[in-house]
Parts: sequence; C-alpha cells; structure tokens
Amino acid sequence: MLRRLHHDQPESFAFTPANLEWARAQLTKYPEGREASGVIPLLWRAQEQEGWLTKPAIEYVADMLGMAYVRVLEVATFYFMFQLQPVGSVAHFQICGTLSCMIMGAEDLVAIAREKIAPEPHMLSEDGRFSWEEVECLGSCANAPMAQVGKDFYEDLTTEGFAGLIDRLAAGEVPVPGPQNGRYGAEPLAGLSSLTEYESGRTQYNASVALATELGDTIKRIDGSEAPATTPWLAGGRKVHVSAKKAAPKPAPQKAPAKAPATAPATTPAGAPAGEAKKPRSLKAPRKAGADDLKMIKGVGPKLEALLHSLGFFHFDQIAKWTEAEVAWVDENLTGFKGRVSRDDWVAQARLLAAGEQTEFSKKVKDGDVYKT
Ligand code: FES
Repeated sequence: MLRRLHHDQPESFAFTPANLEWARAQLTKYPEGREASGVIPLLWRAQEQEGWLTKPAIEYVADMLGMAYVRVLEVATFYFMFQLQPVGSVAHFQICGTLSCMIMGAEDLVAIAREKIAPEPHMLSEDGRFSWEEVECLGSCANAPMAQVGKDFYEDLTTEGFAGLIDRLAAGEVPVPGPQNGRYGAEPLAGLSSLTEYESGRTQYNASVALATELGDTIKRIDGSEAPATTPWLAGGRKVHVSAKKAAPKPAPQKAPAKAPATAPATTPAGAPAGEAKKPRSLKAPRKAGADDLKMIKGVGPKLEALLHSLGFFHFDQIAKWTEAEVAWVDENLTGFKGRVSRDDWVAQARLLAAGEQTEFSKKVKDGDVYKT
C-alpha cells in the first residue's frame, strides 16, 4: 500500500502545553544526543492530539528532535499505526482481518463497517465522525474477532455487538474496551479450568481495560492532562533536559512534570486562573506605516490575521506586550481558533519580530518555504 501525505494539510501544528510538557519529559528517557529515539512516542502523541498525523506535526516533531524532516517522514509512512489522512472525529476502527479473526467473522465486521460507516476503508462517514480500515493481526487472536480504536481493543465481537458499539459511540458513550462477551481476558469461554483460586481475587477488569478506564483516555482526544507519570524520576524536581534542536519557536521553559494532579483547578487555555482574562489594548486601525504581516507568526494564517485585525491587533509590538491574562482573553476570543496564542507562543515570536529579529518560522516564510493560503 502506498502511504503518502494527505493532499489537504492544516497550516500548523503544536503540542498543547500539557502535551509539550509530556513530550519533554519523555525525552529524558534517552541519553543526551539520542533524543531521536523518542520519535515514535512523540509522533503517536501528536496523532492522539489531532486524530491523524499531519505534515506540520511531522515537521514539528522533527524540529523538536533535531531530525531531518525526511527521517521522521520515513517513520510516519512506514508504520501503519500512523494515520496519514483524516480519520473519524469520534473513532477510527482498525478491524483485524488476519487468520483467527477471519475465521471468527472479521469479514462480517468489515461488512458492518461498510454499511454503517463508509463503503471504503479510510473514507470518512457522512458526518465525519467515523472511519475504518482492515489491518493485520493485532495480537489478540484468542479474543477474535476484534477491532482497535486508538489504544483500545474491543474483543470477542459479534456483528450485532460491533454494530451496537458503533451506535453507542455515535450516541456519545465510551464503551468499556476489552472482551465484549463477558470474558475477563483470554480464558476459555467456559471459564477457568485451572488456577481457579485466582478468580476470586481479581479486579473488576483485566489490567489493560482497568488502566484504560482509570485513565479515561480511551477514545477521546488527548491533551496531556490525563497522562500517567511515566517518568517518575522527574518527580524529585530534576530539570527536564532537551538538548536537541527545538521546535520553533522555543516555548517557554517547562518544569519537569510531577504526577498529574487528579483534579486541576479550572484554567484558561493560557493557564491563567479562570476569570482573570483581560482584553489587551487594541487599535481602531493600523498605524500610518501599515499593519505588520502577522502571518510571520507561526500559527497565524490569513484567516487568523483577519480575525486579529477585527479585534484591533495589527502590529507585532501589540502582541509582544500581552500579559498572561491578556493572552487568555485573546485565546478565548479567537472564534474557531481558541487557544492558538498560547499553543504557538505568539508573544515570544512577536517580541523577536517587533525587535526586528527573525524566528525560524519567519525566515522560512521569507525564503518562500512556507505556503500560506
Ligand atoms: S488474527 Fe486477529 S488479532 Fe490476531
């Protein structure tokens, strides 16, 4: 199968602040100079955030790891777990079609997917909420037939069960993953025939289902706040070290994440306490010399530039002065683009541009390496 970048790509990508912190913490797993080893987890995180792997996301990860774009593209196009085209906003089903699953009815599941989602794999359903594909063995052969959504396996499926699963997801439910026929794991259908003494002491769900339900990161998009602390060595306050070439522009230094709190106080997208957002000073029109080209700021395209103008922001030095509370206000008021200011750290970029300096992104724009519609 030919795997190519999708013809329709978004303008930009950046990790959410929480995902960026997560990504930086992941890189502490590798020796200095070997950060490229983190390419798969970072690409996977980018895909979890966006639903699919976009060209800007691939470039962002490459910049963050100091890798050539083509090297990261090679990884993204090699592994089928990376979706190179938009997938359903609610769920993308990967239906196993290999031997055990085929014998146990995978073809019937594919027929249901064709009927209820879309006639062809990788095609979005009419409402854009679902998509599907057939994949090779996912290693759950004892629970065949099965389908994967994100990280989760839905096993021991029947045609009715699979159709019902789609309906429940469409209705906004998050069905518990794992065996769908009452089995705990991969024990015999008739129940355990040995080691039965373990049956009474087991938890409600098997380990992977329990983890999925505890974390609550099953089918929903990930923003980092639900991430388990997989880097416990940072809990003591060791500084997160990332020596590799940074994603441009370099985001504000992040503290090493301790274990994510179970409940966080309500915050604005910029991280300011809710209720403290404040509108920055604006202008009725650009100054006499004309407006700055705000598209030099990474993350700002023609639509966002027009939106900024409508809010009274025309110049880099205006944006450069925004306080955290003002960033929160703008983030909230960018209809259709909420959170972009903090996501791409416009203020840091604007400070450089207002001072007559260049960012890596603005250099690319000037060199004609960035296509902006
Ligand atoms: S054959 Fe389907 S999971 Fe192995």
